[in-house]
Amino acid sequence: MDERIAMNELDALVASAETDFAQAALPADLENAKARFLGKSGRITALMKDLASLPVDEKKTRGAAINLAKQAIEAALNARRQALADAELQAQLQAEALDVTLPGRQRGPGGLHPVSITLERIEGIFASMGFEVADGPEIETDWFNFTALNTPEDHPARSMHDTFYVEGAGPDAPPHLLRTHTSPMQIRHAVQHVKRHRAALDAGEGMPEIRVIAPGRTYRVDSDATHSPMFHQCEGLWIGENVSFKDLKVVFTDFCRTFFESRDLVLRFRPSFFPFTEPSAEVDIQFQSGPLAGRWLEVAGSGQVHPNVVRNMGLDPERFIGFAFGMGPDRLTMLRYGINDLRLFFEGDLRFLRQFR
Ligand code: PHE
Repeated sequence: MDERIAMNELDALVASAETDFAQAALPADLENAKARFLGKSGRITALMKDLASLPVDEKKTRGAAINLAKQAIEAALNARRQALADAELQAQLQAEALDVTLPGRQRGPGGLHPVSITLERIEGIFASMGFEVADGPEIETDWFNFTALNTPEDHPARSMHDTFYVEGAGPDAPPHLLRTHTSPMQIRHAVQHVKRHRAALDAGEGMPEIRVIAPGRTYRVDSDATHSPMFHQCEGLWIGENVSFKDLKVVFTDFCRTFFESRDLVLRFRPSFFPFTEPSAEVDIQFQSGPLAGRWLEVAGSGQVHPNVVRNMGLDPERFIGFAFGMGPDRLTMLRYGINDLRLFFEGDLRFLRQFR
């Protein structure tokens, strides 16, 4: 056999492998191509088998040449394998690419809920008149919500129909309920205040006046355009040795005129009844201009704190006297902004809420 032709034949074989490998677009194609050259019945394998029939010295040179060709094919195979793996990685990187130049989704600046705006306004106005702000539990005991407030066992507010009672407090635990008003804070705050000044009181020295408001959530079994089962109240309490109904009128009138920014706003104290105040009055306001002008609008309950309640605060009703009021911040918000449905406050519709931002 002419060696040069034989060599050319091997070169051609390597070239043909290189071409086939280059044409393999997928790893599976490449493995098929590899089998055609290096596999059990591949062409290199066949050439190796043919060696057996050659004379010894020819076997050597031809064997070495075939080995070189085999190595060249293997090198081409590995190069192509690497190229395909690189291409696959590139494709994957491309597919999973993150465009970090895309502007992020921003959170809006947000804003206060209209009722929160009202609560902040109420707190600010009363703070300017020397009132503290107190906070208390929404799950109350029967004692603070009713009994301590001189509310008798047969009072309608105590019925299951009007009040959310809380189960699971245990057979011996005192009854609990979702507070139906913020008035329990009168007792809670006063008791703490009195405790702090007990020694001075016992020594006959007196104590600083109690002047506090207590805003917060309250609950009743009630739901329509002007009632929500959860609503807000803000309690007010002023107790001292010489606090009169006149002070209640001055403070509350001042508050309403400041809150509504209306100097000519008129107030009416309409006789009413609450177990924990005596005398008691509903507070109505009347605007002199604007869409609500001329109508009496109820905004609060109020009255002089009942002697039994003063006693439950730990004070002597012969010496201490004062007044309390409870107003509805939800209603104040509706009046201030001209909103006609209370439920809008609690539905969380951003189209409504954004108007107050
Ligand atoms: N707690 C009463 C209510 O919810 C309001 C009130 C508070 C009345 C304080 C008098 C004094 O209706």
